[in-house]
Amino acid sequence: MSNRMWGGRFETGPAAIMEEINASIGFDQKLYAQDIRGSKAHAAMLAARGIISAEDAATIAEGLDRIKAEIDDGRFTFSRALEDIHMNVESRLAELIGPSAGRLHTARSRNDQVALDVKLWVRDSLDHIDGQLGDLMRALVARADEHAGTVMPGFTHLQSAQPVTFGHHLMAYVEMLARDRGRIRDARARLNESPLGAAALAGTSFPIDRAMTAAALGFDRPTANSLDSVADRDFALEAMSAASICAIHLSRFAEEIVIWSSAQFGFVRLSDAFSTGSSIMPQKRNPDAAELVRAKSGRIVGGMTALMIVMKGLPLTYQKDMQEDKEQIFDALESLSLAIAATTGMVADMQPNAERMRAAAGSGYATATDLADWLVRVLGIPFREAHHVTGRIVALASARGVGLEDLTLDEMRGVHDGITPAVFQVLGVDRSVESRTSHGGTAPANVRAEAARWAAALAAEAESA
Ligand code: ARG
Repeated sequence: MSNRMWGGRFETGPAAIMEEINASIGFDQKLYAQDIRGSKAHAAMLAARGIISAEDAATIAEGLDRIKAEIDDGRFTFSRALEDIHMNVESRLAELIGPSAGRLHTARSRNDQVALDVKLWVRDSLDHIDGQLGDLMRALVARADEHAGTVMPGFTHLQSAQPVTFGHHLMAYVEMLARDRGRIRDARARLNESPLGAAALAGTSFPIDRAMTAAALGFDRPTANSLDSVADRDFALEAMSAASICAIHLSRFAEEIVIWSSAQFGFVRLSDAFSTGSSIMPQKRNPDAAELVRAKSGRIVGGMTALMIVMKGLPLTYQKDMQEDKEQIFDALESLSLAIAATTGMVADMQPNAERMRAAAGSGYATATDLADWLVRVLGIPFREAHHVTGRIVALASARGVGLEDLTLDEMRGVHDGITPAVFQVLGVDRSVESRTSHGGTAPANVRAEAARWAAALAAEAESA
Protein backbone atom coordinates (compact mmCIF):
# COMPACT_ATOMS: atom_id res chain seq x y z
CA MET A 1 0.00 0.00 0.00
CA SER A 2 1.36 3.43 -0.83
CA ASN A 3 1.74 6.11 1.83
CA ARG A 4 -1.63 7.55 2.72
CA MET A 5 -0.24 11.03 3.37
CA TRP A 6 1.66 11.53 0.12
CA GLY A 7 1.15 8.36 -1.94
CA GLY A 8 -1.23 9.72 -4.63
CA ARG A 9 1.14 9.08 -7.50
CA PHE A 10 2.61 5.88 -6.04
CA GLU A 11 1.30 2.41 -6.79
CA THR A 12 3.18 0.36 -4.24
CA GLY A 13 4.66 1.00 -0.84
CA PRO A 14 8.32 1.29 0.02
CA ALA A 15 10.75 -1.61 0.28
CA ALA A 16 11.23 -2.67 3.89
CA ILE A 17 14.77 -1.31 3.91
CA MET A 18 13.52 1.96 2.40
CA GLU A 19 11.04 2.33 5.21
CA GLU A 20 13.73 1.56 7.72
CA ILE A 21 16.21 4.15 6.48
CA ASN A 22 13.51 6.75 5.82
CA ALA A 23 11.57 6.71 9.06
CA SER A 24 12.41 9.20 11.78
CA ILE A 25 9.51 8.46 14.13
CA GLY A 26 11.82 6.39 16.35
CA PHE A 27 13.49 9.62 17.47
CA ASP A 28 11.43 12.58 16.29
CA GLN A 29 8.48 11.56 18.48
CA LYS A 30 10.35 13.62 21.07
CA LEU A 31 9.06 16.66 19.14
CA TYR A 32 5.36 15.88 19.63
CA ALA A 33 4.58 18.76 22.00
CA GLN A 34 6.34 21.26 19.74
CA ASP A 35 4.65 19.79 16.66
CA ILE A 36 1.21 20.10 18.18
CA ARG A 37 1.88 23.61 19.46
CA GLY A 38 2.95 24.69 15.98
CA SER A 39 -0.08 23.07 14.35
CA LYS A 40 -2.49 24.77 16.74
CA ALA A 41 -0.95 28.17 16.02
CA HIS A 42 -1.08 27.45 12.28
CA ALA A 43 -4.76 26.36 12.37
CA ALA A 44 -5.77 29.43 14.39
CA MET A 45 -4.01 31.67 11.87
CA LEU A 46 -5.63 29.91 8.88
CA ALA A 47 -9.04 30.56 10.45
CA ALA A 48 -8.23 34.17 11.31
CA ARG A 49 -7.29 34.75 7.66
CA GLY A 50 -10.46 33.02 6.39
CA ILE A 51 -8.43 30.21 4.76
CA ILE A 52 -10.26 27.54 6.77
CA SER A 53 -13.49 27.90 8.73
CA ALA A 54 -13.58 28.73 12.41
CA GLU A 55 -15.40 25.41 13.03
CA ASP A 56 -12.68 23.43 11.31
CA ALA A 57 -10.02 25.27 13.29
CA ALA A 58 -11.82 24.54 16.55
CA THR A 59 -12.26 20.85 15.69
CA ILE A 60 -8.59 20.63 14.68
CA ALA A 61 -7.47 22.26 17.95
CA GLU A 62 -9.59 19.88 20.04
CA GLY A 63 -8.30 16.88 18.12
CA LEU A 64 -4.69 18.04 18.59
CA ASP A 65 -5.26 18.46 22.33
CA ARG A 66 -6.58 14.90 22.50
CA ILE A 67 -3.54 13.61 20.64
CA LYS A 68 -1.24 15.51 23.00
CA ALA A 69 -2.98 13.86 25.96
CA GLU A 70 -2.71 10.43 24.34
CA ILE A 71 1.02 10.83 23.78
CA ASP A 72 1.56 12.34 27.25
CA ASP A 73 -0.13 9.30 28.79
CA GLY A 74 1.64 6.75 26.59
CA ARG A 75 -1.63 5.75 24.90
CA PHE A 76 -0.52 6.67 21.39
CA THR A 77 0.64 4.07 18.89
CA PHE A 78 3.41 5.41 16.68
CA SER A 79 3.60 3.93 13.21
CA ARG A 80 6.82 3.60 11.28
CA ALA A 81 4.90 3.43 8.02
CA LEU A 82 3.86 7.02 8.72
CA GLU A 83 7.54 8.00 8.81
CA ASP A 84 7.66 10.88 11.21
CA ILE A 85 5.97 12.75 14.03
CA HIS A 86 4.27 15.17 11.63
CA MET A 87 2.44 12.46 9.71
CA ASN A 88 1.75 10.34 12.77
CA VAL A 89 -0.05 13.28 14.38
CA GLU A 90 -1.90 14.29 11.24
CA SER A 91 -3.00 10.75 10.50
CA ARG A 92 -4.35 10.31 14.01
CA LEU A 93 -6.11 13.66 13.67
CA ALA A 94 -7.94 12.31 10.62
CA GLU A 95 -9.02 9.25 12.62
CA LEU A 96 -10.32 11.48 15.39
CA ILE A 97 -12.02 14.32 13.49
CA GLY A 98 -12.43 13.11 9.94
CA PRO A 99 -11.85 15.03 6.69
CA SER A 100 -11.37 18.48 8.24
CA ALA A 101 -8.00 17.17 9.49
CA GLY A 102 -6.88 17.40 5.88
CA ARG A 103 -7.24 21.20 5.99
CA LEU A 104 -4.51 21.66 8.63
CA HIS A 105 -1.67 21.20 6.16
CA THR A 106 -2.86 24.09 3.94
CA ALA A 107 -0.12 26.65 3.28
CA ARG A 108 2.42 24.55 5.12
CA SER A 109 4.91 21.79 4.37
CA ARG A 110 6.80 19.35 6.51
CA ASN A 111 9.88 21.37 5.62
CA ASP A 112 8.83 24.50 7.50
CA GLN A 113 7.05 22.32 10.07
CA VAL A 114 10.16 20.36 11.00
CA ALA A 115 12.33 23.50 11.06
CA LEU A 116 9.81 25.02 13.45
CA ASP A 117 9.57 21.96 15.69
CA VAL A 118 13.32 21.59 16.03
CA LYS A 119 13.71 25.30 16.71
CA LEU A 120 11.10 25.20 19.44
CA TRP A 121 12.78 22.16 21.00
CA VAL A 122 16.23 23.76 20.90
CA ARG A 123 14.83 26.98 22.35
CA ASP A 124 13.19 25.13 25.25
CA SER A 125 16.39 23.22 25.84
CA LEU A 126 18.57 26.37 25.82
CA ASP A 127 16.23 28.01 28.33
CA HIS A 128 16.44 24.96 30.58
CA ILE A 129 20.24 24.85 30.35
CA ASP A 130 20.45 28.57 31.06
CA GLY A 131 18.52 28.03 34.30
CA GLN A 132 20.67 25.04 35.22
CA LEU A 133 23.85 27.04 34.68
CA GLY A 134 22.46 29.64 37.08
CA ASP A 135 22.03 26.89 39.70
CA LEU A 136 25.56 25.62 39.16
CA MET A 137 26.98 29.14 39.42
CA ARG A 138 25.09 29.71 42.67
CA ALA A 139 26.49 26.47 44.08
CA LEU A 140 30.03 27.45 43.09
CA VAL A 141 29.69 30.95 44.54
CA ALA A 142 28.48 29.57 47.87
CA ARG A 143 31.44 27.18 48.11
CA ALA A 144 33.86 29.89 46.97
CA ASP A 145 32.69 32.25 49.70
CA GLU A 146 33.04 29.47 52.26
CA HIS A 147 36.61 28.80 51.06
CA ALA A 148 37.74 32.32 50.20
CA GLY A 149 40.71 31.87 52.56
CA THR A 150 41.44 28.16 52.04
CA VAL A 151 44.94 28.06 50.58
CA MET A 152 45.77 25.60 47.83
CA PRO A 153 48.52 25.38 45.23
CA GLY A 154 47.78 27.11 41.95
CA PHE A 155 49.16 25.16 39.01
CA THR A 156 50.71 25.74 35.64
CA HIS A 157 51.90 22.67 33.72
CA LEU A 158 50.27 20.79 36.65
CA GLN A 159 53.31 21.87 38.67
CA SER A 160 52.78 23.92 41.81
CA ALA A 161 53.16 27.50 40.66
CA GLN A 162 51.94 29.97 43.30
CA PRO A 163 49.56 29.61 46.22
CA VAL A 164 45.95 30.56 45.47
CA THR A 165 42.74 29.98 47.36
CA PHE A 166 40.23 27.24 46.70
CA GLY A 167 37.55 29.93 46.51
CA HIS A 168 39.45 31.76 43.80
CA HIS A 169 39.82 28.53 41.86
CA LEU A 170 36.07 27.85 42.03
CA MET A 171 35.28 31.43 40.99
CA ALA A 172 37.31 30.87 37.82
CA TYR A 173 34.59 28.41 36.78
CA VAL A 174 31.88 30.95 37.58
CA GLU A 175 33.47 33.26 34.99
CA MET A 176 33.62 30.45 32.41
CA LEU A 177 30.01 29.48 33.00
CA ALA A 178 28.91 33.09 32.76
CA ARG A 179 30.45 33.24 29.29
CA ASP A 180 28.72 29.96 28.43
CA ARG A 181 25.41 31.50 29.41
CA GLY A 182 26.19 34.52 27.28
CA ARG A 183 26.76 32.27 24.29
CA ILE A 184 23.56 30.36 25.01
CA ARG A 185 21.55 33.58 25.25
CA ASP A 186 23.11 34.90 22.04
CA ALA A 187 22.20 31.68 20.25
CA ARG A 188 18.66 31.91 21.59
CA ALA A 189 18.28 35.52 20.47
CA ARG A 190 19.47 34.74 16.94
CA LEU A 191 17.33 31.59 16.78
CA ASN A 192 14.13 33.39 17.66
CA GLU A 193 12.56 33.87 14.23
CA SER A 194 9.72 31.67 13.04
CA PRO A 195 10.18 29.61 9.86
CA LEU A 196 6.49 28.60 9.81
CA GLY A 197 4.79 29.69 6.60
CA ALA A 198 7.88 29.35 4.42
CA ALA A 199 5.99 26.24 3.26
CA ALA A 200 7.97 23.81 1.09
CA LEU A 201 10.58 26.40 0.11
CA ALA A 202 9.03 29.22 -1.90
CA GLY A 203 6.34 30.60 0.37
CA THR A 204 2.64 30.22 -0.44
CA SER A 205 -0.12 31.81 -2.48
CA PHE A 206 -2.53 31.67 0.47
CA PRO A 207 -2.97 34.97 2.33
CA ILE A 208 -1.29 33.73 5.52
CA ASP A 209 -0.16 35.89 8.42
CA ARG A 210 3.31 34.76 9.42
CA ALA A 211 3.66 37.49 12.02
CA MET A 212 0.61 36.07 13.81
CA THR A 213 1.99 32.55 14.11
CA ALA A 214 5.41 33.92 15.02
CA ALA A 215 3.90 35.92 17.90
CA ALA A 216 1.71 33.04 19.04
CA LEU A 217 4.78 30.80 19.31
CA GLY A 218 6.90 33.34 21.18
CA PHE A 219 9.13 34.35 18.26
CA ASP A 220 10.32 37.90 17.75
CA ARG A 221 9.36 37.88 14.07
CA PRO A 222 9.03 35.57 11.06
CA THR A 223 12.18 34.66 9.10
CA ALA A 224 12.72 36.87 6.06
CA ASN A 225 13.61 34.39 3.32
CA SER A 226 11.60 31.25 2.63
CA LEU A 227 14.54 29.32 1.16
CA ASP A 228 16.75 30.08 4.13
CA SER A 229 13.91 29.19 6.50
CA VAL A 230 13.75 25.55 5.45
CA ALA A 231 17.47 25.12 4.70
CA ASP A 232 18.83 26.63 7.91
CA ARG A 233 20.15 24.59 10.80
CA ASP A 234 22.54 27.29 12.07
CA PHE A 235 20.47 27.56 15.21
CA ALA A 236 21.22 23.93 16.06
CA LEU A 237 24.89 24.22 15.16
CA GLU A 238 25.18 27.35 17.24
CA ALA A 239 23.41 25.78 20.22
CA MET A 240 25.70 22.77 19.97
CA SER A 241 28.79 24.97 19.65
CA ALA A 242 27.84 26.82 22.81
CA ALA A 243 27.05 23.45 24.41
CA SER A 244 30.45 22.10 23.34
CA ILE A 245 32.40 24.95 24.90
CA CYS A 246 30.37 24.62 28.09
CA ALA A 247 30.92 20.85 28.11
CA ILE A 248 34.65 21.43 27.82
CA HIS A 249 34.57 23.69 30.86
CA LEU A 250 32.70 21.02 32.79
CA SER A 251 35.16 18.41 31.57
CA ARG A 252 38.15 20.42 32.79
CA PHE A 253 36.51 20.84 36.17
CA ALA A 254 35.62 17.15 36.26
CA GLU A 255 39.24 16.29 35.51
CA GLU A 256 40.32 18.45 38.43
CA ILE A 257 37.86 16.68 40.71
CA VAL A 258 39.30 13.34 39.55
CA ILE A 259 42.83 14.53 40.35
CA TRP A 260 41.89 16.23 43.61
CA SER A 261 40.00 13.23 44.93
CA SER A 262 42.88 10.79 44.27
CA ALA A 263 44.63 9.42 47.35
CA GLN A 264 47.85 11.09 46.17
CA PHE A 265 46.32 14.58 46.13
CA GLY A 266 43.57 14.18 48.72
CA PHE A 267 42.42 17.78 48.19
CA VAL A 268 38.71 16.93 48.17
CA ARG A 269 36.57 14.04 49.19
CA LEU A 270 33.31 13.12 47.52
CA SER A 271 30.78 11.50 49.81
CA ASP A 272 29.35 8.04 49.24
CA ALA A 273 26.54 9.74 47.34
CA PHE A 274 28.96 10.69 44.55
CA SER A 275 31.44 7.81 44.69
CA THR A 276 31.39 4.23 43.53
CA GLY A 277 33.30 1.23 44.78
CA SER A 278 35.27 -1.41 42.97
CA SER A 279 34.01 -4.99 42.86
CA ILE A 280 37.54 -6.29 43.38
CA MET A 281 39.53 -3.59 45.20
CA PRO A 282 37.75 -2.82 48.47
CA GLN A 283 39.80 0.29 49.25
CA LYS A 284 38.62 2.19 46.19
CA ARG A 285 36.36 5.23 45.98
CA ASN A 286 35.97 6.10 42.36
CA PRO A 287 34.80 9.52 41.14
CA ASP A 288 32.60 8.05 38.39
CA ALA A 289 30.29 11.04 38.12
CA ALA A 290 33.24 13.32 37.39
CA GLU A 291 34.64 10.85 34.88
CA LEU A 292 31.30 10.66 33.09
CA VAL A 293 30.93 14.45 33.01
CA ARG A 294 34.40 14.49 31.43
CA ALA A 295 33.30 11.88 28.89
CA LYS A 296 30.02 13.60 28.00
CA SER A 297 32.07 16.39 26.43
CA GLY A 298 33.16 13.84 23.83
CA ARG A 299 29.64 13.07 22.71
CA ILE A 300 28.58 16.71 22.78
CA VAL A 301 31.47 17.86 20.60
CA GLY A 302 30.87 14.74 18.48
CA GLY A 303 27.25 15.71 17.92
CA MET A 304 28.21 19.20 16.83
CA THR A 305 30.85 17.81 14.49
CA ALA A 306 28.42 15.26 13.04
CA LEU A 307 25.84 17.91 12.18
CA MET A 308 28.48 20.28 10.78
CA ILE A 309 29.51 17.51 8.40
CA VAL A 310 25.90 16.59 7.54
CA MET A 311 25.22 20.22 6.56
CA LYS A 312 28.45 20.80 4.67
CA GLY A 313 27.87 20.79 0.94
CA LEU A 314 24.06 20.57 1.06
CA PRO A 315 22.57 22.64 -1.75
CA LEU A 316 19.57 24.80 -0.87
CA THR A 317 17.02 24.06 0.36
CA TYR A 318 15.72 21.16 2.46
CA GLN A 319 17.49 17.86 1.87
CA LYS A 320 16.59 14.64 3.62
CA ASP A 321 20.09 14.59 5.05
CA MET A 322 18.80 17.18 7.49
CA GLN A 323 16.64 14.57 9.17
CA GLU A 324 19.92 13.41 10.73
CA ASP A 325 20.07 16.60 12.79
CA LYS A 326 17.70 15.46 15.50
CA GLU A 327 19.49 12.61 17.24
CA GLN A 328 22.65 14.71 17.47
CA ILE A 329 20.80 17.74 18.81
CA PHE A 330 18.80 15.76 21.36
CA ASP A 331 21.80 13.79 22.54
CA ALA A 332 24.14 16.78 22.79
CA LEU A 333 21.77 19.07 24.67
CA GLU A 334 20.37 16.35 26.93
CA SER A 335 23.90 15.18 27.73
CA LEU A 336 24.91 18.72 28.61
CA SER A 337 21.90 19.09 30.86
CA LEU A 338 22.78 15.89 32.69
CA ALA A 339 26.43 16.91 33.00
CA ILE A 340 25.50 20.28 34.50
CA ALA A 341 23.17 18.64 37.01
CA ALA A 342 25.82 16.10 38.06
CA THR A 343 28.44 18.84 38.39
CA THR A 344 26.11 20.90 40.57
CA GLY A 345 25.60 17.86 42.77
CA MET A 346 29.36 17.32 43.12
CA VAL A 347 30.04 20.97 43.93
CA ALA A 348 27.58 20.88 46.80
CA ASP A 349 28.85 17.48 47.93
CA MET A 350 32.62 17.78 47.86
CA GLN A 351 34.50 18.31 51.10
CA PRO A 352 37.82 20.08 50.68
CA ASN A 353 40.68 18.96 52.91
CA ALA A 354 42.15 22.32 53.91
CA GLU A 355 45.23 20.82 55.65
CA ARG A 356 46.20 18.76 52.62
CA MET A 357 45.78 21.71 50.31
CA ARG A 358 47.75 24.03 52.59
CA ALA A 359 50.59 21.53 52.93
CA ALA A 360 50.73 21.09 49.16
CA ALA A 361 50.60 24.87 48.66
CA GLY A 362 53.68 25.27 50.82
CA SER A 363 55.67 22.56 49.08
CA GLY A 364 57.38 22.89 45.71
CA TYR A 365 58.74 26.39 46.51
CA ALA A 366 55.42 27.96 45.61
CA THR A 367 56.38 31.22 47.31
CA ALA A 368 59.54 31.68 45.21
CA THR A 369 57.82 34.47 43.25
CA ASP A 370 56.97 36.19 46.54
CA LEU A 371 60.68 36.09 47.44
CA ALA A 372 61.65 37.53 44.05
CA ASP A 373 58.99 40.26 44.37
CA TRP A 374 60.29 41.08 47.87
CA LEU A 375 63.85 41.48 46.53
CA VAL A 376 62.51 43.92 43.93
CA ARG A 377 60.24 45.82 46.29
CA VAL A 378 62.47 46.06 49.36
CA LEU A 379 65.99 45.91 47.97
CA GLY A 380 65.28 47.64 44.67
CA ILE A 381 66.89 44.86 42.60
CA PRO A 382 65.69 44.57 38.95
CA PHE A 383 63.22 41.70 38.56
CA ARG A 384 65.44 39.64 36.23
CA GLU A 385 68.26 39.70 38.77
CA ALA A 386 65.84 38.97 41.62
CA HIS A 387 64.60 35.96 39.65
CA HIS A 388 68.19 34.71 39.40
CA VAL A 389 68.95 35.27 43.10
CA THR A 390 65.74 33.48 44.02
CA GLY A 391 66.64 30.59 41.75
CA ARG A 392 69.91 30.14 43.64
CA ILE A 393 68.12 30.25 46.99
CA VAL A 394 65.60 27.65 45.75
CA ALA A 395 68.51 25.45 44.60
CA LEU A 396 70.06 25.76 48.04
CA ALA A 397 66.84 24.77 49.80
CA SER A 398 66.27 21.96 47.35
CA ALA A 399 69.81 20.60 47.93
CA ARG A 400 69.13 20.63 51.66
CA GLY A 401 65.67 19.12 51.16
CA VAL A 402 63.88 21.91 53.07
CA GLY A 403 61.36 24.67 52.33
CA LEU A 404 62.36 28.30 51.68
CA GLU A 405 61.19 29.40 55.13
CA ASP A 406 63.43 26.71 56.72
CA LEU A 407 66.66 28.26 55.42
CA THR A 408 68.59 30.44 57.85
CA LEU A 409 69.10 34.12 57.25
CA ASP A 410 72.84 33.50 56.84
CA GLU A 411 72.23 30.91 54.15
CA MET A 412 70.10 33.39 52.22
CA ARG A 413 72.62 36.17 52.79
CA GLY A 414 75.26 33.91 51.31
CA VAL A 415 73.39 34.33 48.02
CA HIS A 416 72.57 38.04 48.43
CA ASP A 417 73.90 39.98 51.39
CA GLY A 418 71.13 42.62 51.32
CA ILE A 419 68.48 40.16 52.58
CA THR A 420 67.01 41.08 56.02
CA PRO A 421 64.90 39.06 58.52
CA ALA A 422 61.78 40.78 57.14
CA VAL A 423 61.99 38.38 54.20
CA PHE A 424 60.46 35.61 56.33
CA GLN A 425 57.16 37.52 56.34
CA VAL A 426 56.58 36.79 52.64
CA LEU A 427 57.68 33.18 52.59
CA GLY A 428 54.46 31.81 54.15
CA VAL A 429 51.52 30.84 51.93
CA ASP A 430 48.97 32.98 53.79
CA ARG A 431 50.98 36.14 53.33
CA SER A 432 51.49 35.17 49.74
CA VAL A 433 47.76 34.93 48.91
CA GLU A 434 46.88 37.95 51.06
CA SER A 435 49.33 40.06 49.10
CA ARG A 436 47.69 39.26 45.73
CA THR A 437 45.23 42.15 45.92
CA SER A 438 45.49 43.30 42.31
CA HIS A 439 42.21 43.34 40.33
CA GLY A 440 41.25 39.71 39.73
CA GLY A 441 43.94 38.43 42.11
CA THR A 442 43.56 35.60 44.63
CA ALA A 443 43.60 37.60 47.91
CA PRO A 444 40.82 36.26 50.18
CA ALA A 445 39.32 39.75 50.40
CA ASN A 446 39.03 39.85 46.60
CA VAL A 447 37.46 36.40 46.50
CA ARG A 448 34.88 37.38 49.11
CA ALA A 449 34.04 40.53 47.17
CA GLU A 450 33.70 38.58 43.91
CA ALA A 451 31.53 35.94 45.57
CA ALA A 452 29.31 38.71 46.97
CA ARG A 453 29.08 40.43 43.59
CA TRP A 454 28.03 37.21 41.86
CA ALA A 455 25.69 36.13 44.65
CA ALA A 456 23.84 39.44 44.35
CA ALA A 457 23.64 39.24 40.54
CA LEU A 458 22.38 35.65 40.65
CA ALA A 459 19.88 36.38 43.42
CA ALA A 460 18.48 39.37 41.50
CA GLU A 461 18.03 37.13 38.49
CA ALA A 462 16.30 34.40 40.53
CA GLU A 463 13.88 37.04 41.86
CA SER A 464 13.04 38.47 38.46
CA ALA A 465 12.52 34.97 36.98
N1 ARG B 1 11.16 13.69 8.98
C1 ARG B 1 11.60 14.79 8.21
C2 ARG B 1 12.85 15.42 8.85
O1 ARG B 1 13.05 15.13 9.96
C3 ARG B 1 10.53 15.82 8.08
C4 ARG B 1 10.62 16.66 6.85
C5 ARG B 1 10.35 15.82 5.66
N2 ARG B 1 10.25 16.61 4.49
C6 ARG B 1 10.28 16.06 3.30
N3 ARG B 1 10.18 16.85 2.28
N4 ARG B 1 10.38 14.78 3.12
O2 ARG B 1 13.58 16.17 8.25
